[in-house]
Amino acid sequence: MGWYEDADAYDRAFDFPPDREIRFLDAIFRRAGLGPGTHILEPMVGTGRLLPGLTALGYRLLGFDASPAMLARARTRCPDALLFRARAERLALAAGSAGGAHCLIDSFRYIREAVGASAFVDAVAHALRPGAPFLVGLDLAGPGEEQPESWSTTRGGTRTEVRLERRPGPSQDLEWMEVLVRIEGPAPRTVRSRTLQRRWTPEAFCRFLDGCRGFSVAGIWRRGEDPDRALDGLPRSGGPVVVALLRESTHP
Ligand SMILES: C[S@@+](CC[C@H](N)C(=O)[O-])C[C@H]1O[C@@H](n2cnc3c(N)ncnc32)[C@H](O)[C@@H]1O
Repeated sequence: MGWYEDADAYDRAFDFPPDREIRFLDAIFRRAGLGPGTHILEPMVGTGRLLPGLTALGYRLLGFDASPAMLARARTRCPDALLFRARAERLALAAGSAGGAHCLIDSFRYIREAVGASAFVDAVAHALRPGAPFLVGLDLAGPGEEQPESWSTTRGGTRTEVRLERRPGPSQDLEWMEVLVRIEGPAPRTVRSRTLQRRWTPEAFCRFLDGCRGFSVAGIWRRGEDPDRALDGLPRSGGPVVVALLRESTHP
């Protein structure tokens, strides 16, 4: 069982306060003229980590995910959000369904084929109104070997340790993300997860953005950075970034 079928394990692994991300999203949404009452779409919403914080600011939320377990957790966490099951590559929402969108952490890389990524971005452009922002987070591949990441969280006295490692996949555009989640406490358990993600170098992602119909790039940041400290381009060294796309007034 992977961690997207075990929403509790995923939630424990990412049990950090989301306040910084909420502030970042709110700042970018406000710059685009959005505010309370705006419908915000979250593709690949997961367990809905960010839903309560955005609801508290007055946004109206809709989101989707491929995993029923993750959706069930998100629905419990935020009953007011409109959540549905869908695959990003096959998304088809009505034109103008949302005033803004975001897809953070590294979810975008679960779309393994470039053609699927284009179809997804096209569908989000169709769903957004002209001028609407779409924030996409992803880890860009760097030139060197990827180092394993480890971190821990504690919830209600129960400690969870996470180890994440990336390994070469079946082609140079794909890599395995292998995760080990160890939950301690009175009923200790271990969850292992192995999923394929697309590998985007800064150059490949830049070409992809150039080809995105209906969006132009409005800003690029290091993940976790202050909204006032945008970068002047995609970092050649790779690493985690957030890219703000703005829906053009014309979309084919
Ligand atoms: C990193 S997690 C959720 C991230 C969430 N946006 C957050 O900030 O906490 C990635 C999610 O993507 C979902 N997912 C993976 N591939 C998908 C696809 N092709 N279509 C829809 N959801 C997908 C997984 O089920 C998982 O819930």
